[in-house]
Amino acid sequence: MDFKAHIKIKDLNVWYERHKTLNNISVEIPEKKITAIIVPSGCGKTTLLKALNRLIELQDNVRIEGNVIVDNEDIYSQKVEITQLRKKMGLLSQKPQVLPMSIYENVAYGPKIHGIKDKKLLAQIVEKYLKEAGLWNEVKNRIHGPASKLSIGQQQRLCLARGLAVEPEIILADEPTSALDPVSAKWIEEKFLELRNKYTVILVTHSLDQAKRIADYVIFLYMGNLIEYGPAAQIFRNPKYIKTKSYLDGRLIEDIKVDRELDLRRTTGNDIFAKAKYAMEELAIGQVLKVIIDHEQTGEELSRSLEHDGHKVLEVIRKSKTDREVFIKKQTATVYEI
Ligand SMILES: Nc1ncnc2c1ncn2[C@@H]1O[C@H](COP(=O)(O)OP(=O)(O)OP(=O)(O)O)[C@@H](O)[C@H]1O
Ligand SMILES: [Mg+2]
Repeated sequence: MDFKAHIKIKDLNVWYERHKTLNNISVEIPEKKITAIIVPSGCGKTTLLKALNRLIELQDNVRIEGNVIVDNEDIYSQKVEITQLRKKMGLLSQKPQVLPMSIYENVAYGPKIHGIKDKKLLAQIVEKYLKEAGLWNEVKNRIHGPASKLSIGQQQRLCLARGLAVEPEIILADEPTSALDPVSAKWIEEKFLELRNKYTVILVTHSLDQAKRIADYVIFLYMGNLIEYGPAAQIFRNPKYIKTKSYLDGRLIEDIKVDRELDLRRTTGNDIFAKAKYAMEELAIGQVLKVIIDHEQTGEELSRSLEHDGHKVLEVIRKSKTDREVFIKKQTATVYEI
């Protein structure tokens, strides 16, 4: 897709102790659009978001490898200042997490940390962002009262105001409506549609309906692997791979049953195509070949070539920087002349 990338994720891996939760994720996130990262529960939504603003480092036993490039700077480089990075990226959590202080102080907190001391200016900022988050009218008469007394929907809007008050470029939202009533949820969704004019919004969600309503761009992750990504309309109308299709159809995502495996690492040029095509010939229609390849471009060319022959590429998994696993289902009985 043609777009200006705001964030480039390159071969991002995350382990908790010895368990790998994210596996060689490489994808670009467009600027000033809503990107929905659709992930079934427990598959790494929160992990991915926290890896984008380095909150993940606060966890024990976590290991991160790879690059996350924001505005042309790798956020994992030594030079990056964490406070500045967090300012750039506001995080809206699954459950609203208001600070144990007044409504006013919740919003003033960030600007104060970033050096604003003038009381009048702070009051203006608080009012501006409470209005922006649609909360001002409801709270203007009790602005110095405790934030914890607000309803959950109001608390989430307060968290949004708090996030916006530091003027971020990117809004990271972790299932921001899952704890909310339908009216508050709808309000947040509509707010996001407005916010994308000014901010890059990344929304992780397991809700297909929500993604269908508001996403411009969709990334589908499953079991730590990036399965598929692209413009929302294309992914929803015409998903390329079988796991995306199963999830969209509300079916169980099953492991692909492999009938034959072919390791073509360290194989070169035309040999790759010849060997893969001969292996396809030996399979019965409906059977699946898994090819392992250690060259990205060849992986793509092989997929295209086999699809051109009438077979179906079910999945392509990035196993490492170089290695790809391509799963192909035989669909026709073509005899190749090589
Ligand atoms: N600090 C940690 N230590 C060990 N394992 C962890 C830790 N945090 C998360 N995990 C594991 O990593 C996997 C992904 O977790 P994560 O919280 O990112 O998923 P999620 O998609 O946000 O889940 P949910 O839908 O429940 O919010 C899970 O298997 C989880 O148990
Ligand atoms: Mg989560």
